[in-house]
Amino acid sequence: MPKNLVEPIKFSDKYLKAIWLTNAENYYIENRTIVVNLGQEKTYIAVFPEKYLLPITSTILKEVSLKTGDSLLLIEIFDSINIGGIVLDPAWHQLGEISDFPKDVPLWKSPQYDVGTVEFDPYFVTGLADRPQQNKLRKYQVKVNLWFSPANTNAAIHNKHAVREFLEVHTQIYGTGRMQKFHANDFNTLYEDVLMSPGDTHIPFASVDEKGRFIYPWHQYYADTDCIWMANEFHPIS
Ligand SMILES: [Fe+2]
Repeated sequence: MPKNLVEPIKFSDKYLKAIWLTNAENYYIENRTIVVNLGQEKTYIAVFPEKYLLPITSTILKEVSLKTGDSLLLIEIFDSINIGGIVLDPAWHQLGEISDFPKDVPLWKSPQYDVGTVEFDPYFVTGLADRPQQNKLRKYQVKVNLWFSPANTNAAIHNKHAVREFLEVHTQIYGTGRMQKFHANDFNTLYEDVLMSPGDTHIPFASVDEKGRFIYPWHQYYADTDCIWMANEFHPIS
């Protein structure tokens, strides 16, 4: 199988460069890059002492090689001047313009891209089980898109995403924000605040029911500053 396969992910061509890297082998990262492990294997980083990046986690790397990695998303911001203009790309849309989402919420979405499939035990990945079980493995289609909101945006409380629920986690790309949990669909019932700085990916908010379906608490993204963050979605494949 060929090594270091690179596919451009066209979120933007003005402000940031995103690539999907598969089958990495001694892949050199030159510039400061957010690296998200969207595969099912640890990505070993070529350092001593040996360290690695676990699946569904991320970091910021520069001037270092990835020894291995089955599937990684790499994002480098090369120009942050006018970066809010990323939403002016004709491929981006205000969510309220393309869905029944509230039109008064300043939340913009990039195109979404398929970036491979993975297998995992949903009970393990969400922390309900202490170790993965072979007979609980399921297959998922991985999809990614970017979001943008300006400072002080409540991006809307919700506890459902789709008829067939997927696992979502988010990676902060630019600015600082939070993933928040609520007891009810009410901003006054906040009970957990997970701060997000560039390079951070929060742990899954989802739990799993007895049928292996993802279930969510009321939650939202809040942008403290102008923010770009990436949704990493894992859609069950039957
Ligand atoms: Fe969500």
